[in-house]
Amino acid sequence: MYSDALMARFLEPSHAGDLDQPQGAAQAGNETCGDVVHLALKVVDGVIADARFRAQGCATAIASADAVCELVIGTSITAAQMLNAGNLSFALGGIPEDRMNCATIVLDALRIALERARAYPLPTSPA
Ligand code: FES
Repeated sequence: MYSDALMARFLEPSHAGDLDQPQGAAQAGNETCGDVVHLALKVVDGVIADARFRAQGCATAIASADAVCELVIGTSITAAQMLNAGNLSFALGGIPEDRMNCATIVLDALRIALERARAYPLPTSPA
């Protein structure tokens, strides 16, 4: 059912954890199962220097979060915004059709985290 690449990331993810004071962070959930993925980004001069995730989810969600972190590290915010389900599926050696929702929640979290990173630091309101 799962590819070797997907299972390897699920069993030994390289990017699990937290970041201290990320420029962009977001959480997204799968309404069907209640699982959640949290993604955090460290951005330096418009380039994603590091990415970490925490997930309460299935093998696909965890593997997808790990793959997304790897795919965006070293890229610009603009390039990362173009990451899609097809790119993610390719990186994982395929995602079972009935698990695509588990993968796309990671992309949902990524998009929100990128928007927040692009807006960072938030403008202060005039006194
Ligand atoms: Fe819940 Fe996959 S079954 S995220």
